[in-house]
Amino acid sequence: MIPDDLCIRPTTPDDVEALVQLTAATGMFKPLELDTLQEIFADYFGDIPTSDQHSRTLVTEGSVRGFVYFAPAPMTDRTWYLYWIVVAADAHGRGYGRALLRHAEDEIRRRGGRVLFIETSGLPHYERTRRFYRQQGYDQEAILRDFYASGDDMIVFRKVL
Ligand SMILES: CC(C)(COP(=O)(O)OP(=O)(O)OC[C@H]1O[C@@H](n2cnc3c(N)ncnc32)[C@H](O)[C@@H]1OP(=O)(O)O)[C@@H](O)C(=O)NCCC(=O)NCCS
Repeated sequence: MIPDDLCIRPTTPDDVEALVQLTAATGMFKPLELDTLQEIFADYFGDIPTSDQHSRTLVTEGSVRGFVYFAPAPMTDRTWYLYWIVVAADAHGRGYGRALLRHAEDEIRRRGGRVLFIETSGLPHYERTRRFYRQQGYDQEAILRDFYASGDDMIVFRKVL
């Protein structure tokens, strides 16, 4: 059940350490991906503002428990990408991921977004993640074989907003 105090708000620099830590603690991401996430946040909060990138943090009981990061795809007509969605491992299956995804979709719609794409891995330990996207109304649109690494395909999900 979603707690009454659940809040999704813009990510602040103070959230970053906790967000990177909870992302690492899921055990789902490679060191290179975690380094990239650090760099993304460094750019996001850097001196030169990243244009039209959006990060939102989920907080409950005063603790940072997840985040979602999304942006429009350059050189497209109102196509958006969801780059990251992560919920703390000990809070999976409570509806927080769905709340984050809905929040992102609503905000993208508000900004005129037409279609949202999400990329994920085809590895077996991402099966629950893929099921999560299907449950939220995403269709599997494409498979890019060996994209991330040999034997690690990219699965592209799509939803019309
Ligand atoms: C994918 C993720 C964001 C979903 O958030 P969540 O809060 O666990 O999901 P919800 O509670 O809103 O929805 C539950 C559904 O998510 C799916 N799910 C995915 N991973 C799950 C997990 N570890 N535990 C429970 N459900 C999970 C299931 O399909 C579940 O439905 P079910 O209860 O009928 O089996 C979250 O599990 C997560 O952070 N996973 C690791 C990181 C990741 O894979 N991120 C996406 C990278 S592309």
